[in-house]
Amino acid sequence: MQATEFVVDLANFQATQFVEKKLPDTLEANQAIFKIDKFSFTSNNITYAIVGDRIGYWKFFPTKEGYGIIPAWGFADVVVSNHPDIKVGERFYGYFPMASHLLVQANKVQPYGFMDSISHRTSLPPIYNYYTNVGQDPIHSPEQEDLQSIFRPLFTTSFLIDDLFYEQDYFGTQNIVITSASSKTAQALAFLLASRKKTQNLTISIIGLTSGNNEDFVKQLGWYDQVLSYDKIDQLDNNQPHAIVDFTGNHQTQYTLQTHLGMQLKYNCLVGLVDWQHLEGEKPLPKKGEFFFAPTYAEQRQKAWGPAGFQQRVGQAWQQFIVSVKDSLQIAEPVSNKGVEKLYLEMLGGKIDPKKGYMVSIQG
Ligand SMILES: NC(=O)c1ccc[n+]([C@@H]2O[C@H](COP(=O)([O-])OP(=O)(O)OC[C@H]3O[C@@H](n4cnc5c(N)ncnc54)[C@H](OP(=O)(O)O)[C@@H]3O)[C@@H](O)[C@H]2O)c1
Repeated sequence: MQATEFVVDLANFQATQFVEKKLPDTLEANQAIFKIDKFSFTSNNITYAIVGDRIGYWKFFPTKEGYGIIPAWGFADVVVSNHPDIKVGERFYGYFPMASHLLVQANKVQPYGFMDSISHRTSLPPIYNYYTNVGQDPIHSPEQEDLQSIFRPLFTTSFLIDDLFYEQDYFGTQNIVITSASSKTAQALAFLLASRKKTQNLTISIIGLTSGNNEDFVKQLGWYDQVLSYDKIDQLDNNQPHAIVDFTGNHQTQYTLQTHLGMQLKYNCLVGLVDWQHLEGEKPLPKKGEFFFAPTYAEQRQKAWGPAGFQQRVGQAWQQFIVSVKDSLQIAEPVSNKGVEKLYLEMLGGKIDPKKGYMVSIQG
């Protein structure tokens, strides 16, 4: 059996190719092979590449020298198993390579999932190494698999940011500015902040910053109290304290926000880097921010609430979100080997329609 892998040239992200990798004919004890059915593709996957060296995303799925495989969230079926408790035909949700197949070394196998402890993954954050058996997953429904692939990892991040802000009493601010407000992670955050605002009668104001051409889309979502394009940052009231949640990473946007808000900027939460071509600028930033890394905060919360308590809280919020978001996203048929390079290059170039959700299915 062979795996077909979509790989990126580490010296030039514009160059991609398919690579064939031979999988073992005989599996070692506790190994299994997944046929990867489909996975989502958003700017988050591009960020995995941009920070691949810095955060270690290239280490999850090693491939031929000089190339890297971008990880993605999706669904896969077991096609070969040498573990007594993992059955051929079982379906799992998790973190997969952009490829047709994946060999895993199953560990800590329980009815609801297992950990891949293949040697090159053991030092990486555990949240990425866990595969959830869909048969035991309260969040899973077959009709919503695409929506789940696209939003679940991003939603979980936003769930954690919402929790952080609540726990920290909104860092003494009432105004939360969210950049790249049209991104899916930002949408989920705006939804969660707005829900809490309503149910707990909070006086926070949720302000979305977006590109001019995405302004109408962001407004009609209904979760932001105010939506501004990037050239209207000076309309923010700098007599009041603000916090930023930054998904864009754009240096100029950070510079303008920081200089305009000045001492009224109380917390600057750096989450995303969608605008990866504009991370640097000539003028030094007056005040840096704090990098938010979802896996680290998730581990803290899992310790505090226990794994089941964590899943239950995220699951409850997810069910509400999914009802609100399912009609605003148009999900296209999965792109296959032929279209994946085009999709990747468009996403890399920032040509993204926030109304659309993309799935990929690579055939071996
Ligand atoms: N730190 C963490 O733990 C963590 C966890 C999850 C996600 N994230 C990050 O959050 C970010 C959002 O991811 P996503 O998948 O939600 O994004 P997405 O839905 O694909 O975002 C699309 C939006 O991002 C902006 N954008 C995308 N590419 C751009 C480019 N090249 N240049 C300028 N603007 C661009 C545009 O929004 P506007 O017009 O509104 O600016 C676009 O509508 C990613 O960087 C992701 O890695 C971080």
